[in-house]
Amino acid sequence: MNAAVPFASAIESIAPFRRSPENPSAIPARIQGRIPDWLRGEVFRTCPAIFETGKWRAQHWFDGLGMIYAFRIGDSAVDFRSRLLDSETARDARRGKTNLAAFGTPNARPLVQRIFEPIPRVSDNTNVNIVRLGHQLVAMTEGNRQLVIDDETLASVEPVSYSGDALGGAIMSAHPHFDFGRSKVLNVATEFGLNGVISIYEHDSVARQRELIGSWRTRRVPYVHTFGLTPRSAILVAHPFGVSPAQMLWSSKGYIDHFDWRADEGTRLVIVDRSGGETREHVADAFFAFHCVNAFEHGDSTVLDVLAYPDADIVAALRIDRMLAELPDLRPSLLRIVMKPGVERASTEKLSDVGFEFPSTHYRLVNGLPYRFAYGASDGLDAGGVYTSSVVKVDVTSGSSMSHCDGTHIFGEPIFVARPQGSGEDDGVLLTVGSARNAESSVLAVLDARTMALLASAEVPSSIPLGFHGSFTRTEW
Ligand SMILES: [Fe+2]
Repeated sequence: MNAAVPFASAIESIAPFRRSPENPSAIPARIQGRIPDWLRGEVFRTCPAIFETGKWRAQHWFDGLGMIYAFRIGDSAVDFRSRLLDSETARDARRGKTNLAAFGTPNARPLVQRIFEPIPRVSDNTNVNIVRLGHQLVAMTEGNRQLVIDDETLASVEPVSYSGDALGGAIMSAHPHFDFGRSKVLNVATEFGLNGVISIYEHDSVARQRELIGSWRTRRVPYVHTFGLTPRSAILVAHPFGVSPAQMLWSSKGYIDHFDWRADEGTRLVIVDRSGGETREHVADAFFAFHCVNAFEHGDSTVLDVLAYPDADIVAALRIDRMLAELPDLRPSLLRIVMKPGVERASTEKLSDVGFEFPSTHYRLVNGLPYRFAYGASDGLDAGGVYTSSVVKVDVTSGSSMSHCDGTHIFGEPIFVARPQGSGEDDGVLLTVGSARNAESSVLAVLDARTMALLASAEVPSSIPLGFHGSFTRTEW
C-alpha cells in the first residue's frame, strides 16, 4: 500500500468497496434483457460508504458512514439514486469527533465525559438494514436509534420514537421479524447493567410502543445480530463471543473489541416462548453466526438454520486494515440445529457444501415454517487468489445448489420478490446489486429464482460499495 494513502480511505478505491459520489437526483440505468412486467417497485438498500473524512477514520467495515440507495423499477425504465445518511455519527465524524460508541472503532471522549458517562451513547450510523415499518421507511443499525428515511429524497428525516415504553435505551438488532397475520414487528434488544438482559419484543407495525415477550438474563452477554422466529418461539444464538458488562465501563474501545471468544463454553441456544415468555436453553459445539436463515417447529422440537463460522475470527477479519490485506471470506456453512425439549444437547448438521452470507428466503411464505430454498451471496477468494462472487440458491432438503456468476461483479444480498399469484417458494425473482470489479459501475441484477438465469440487468455508472441488507417495496412509478 502506498504510504501516502491514509489507510481507511484506501479501501474506498478497492472493489467491492469502491464508492462514487452520491446521486441524490435520479439517474437512468441502462437496461439489458427484459424485466418481468409484474415487477414494479423499489429496492432500498444500505451500505457503509465513507471510511475516512477529515481526521476521522473507521477501523472496521461496520463503522463506515452509511449511504442509502434505491433502484426504482418502472414500466420501461429503472432509475437510481443514492444519498449519504445524515446521522449524528456522520456529523460528528466530519468535525473530527468520535464521541459515540461504534462497533469496532474507538471513541475519543474527553476524560470528564467518560467519568460522568461511563458508557458512551451509541452510534446512529444506520448502515445495516432498511425496511418498511408500517408506512415509514426505517434505516437500522445495532443501536438504540433508528432513522426514518424519506422515500423520495432518501434524506434522513428523524429518529424513530420509542420513548416511554418498556425498553428505554436498549440496543435493538437491525434484523426485525414480521408477523404478518398480526401486523406485528418483532425484534431482539440487549440491555447492559450489572448483567445483560436480552429481550424479545414486539410492536404494532404502525405504532411504536414496544411490548416485552420474554427476556433472558446472562452474566456474559453474547453479540446478537439476528434471531430465529417460529409461530411458537423466538430463538437466540448465544455464541461464546461475549462480554461482561463491567468491562465496558469508562472504556474508549470499540464495542466489539470488548468481546472475547471462549470455545469451551459452546454455543447456547435460547428458546423464548412467544406466548408466555418462558425460556429454555440448549448447547451445541461452539460456532459463531451473524445470520439466522430460518426456523421452524418439528413435532416438539425446534429447528434453527444458521450461517455458521467455526469461531468469531470473521469479526476481526472485517477490520479495515485486515480487509486491505485480504478481502474477507464470506462463505460460512449452512448449519441446522435441532433442539428437543428435555435434551440439553442440540444436534447439528451441515446442510450444504456451499457457503454463503446475506441469506434470504421467500420470507412471507416460509419464515417460521419448514422450507426448501435459501438464497445468498457467496463471496471469497478462489484457489487462484481471485475474489469470486456468485448468487446462490440452496435446496436445504437435499444440499444441492444452483448459482449465478458473471465474473464481472461482486454481489451482495439477494432479495426475493414473489410473482403475484405465484406458487412455490422460488416462483419469483431475486434482486441483487453487483459492484463491478474493474469499472466505475454497478448493476441491479434480476434473476429468475427458479433457474438462477439472468433475466435483466440495470447498469448505472456509479460504484456502489458492497453493503448489507435492504428490502423491496411494490410501488407505483
Ligand atoms: Fe445482518
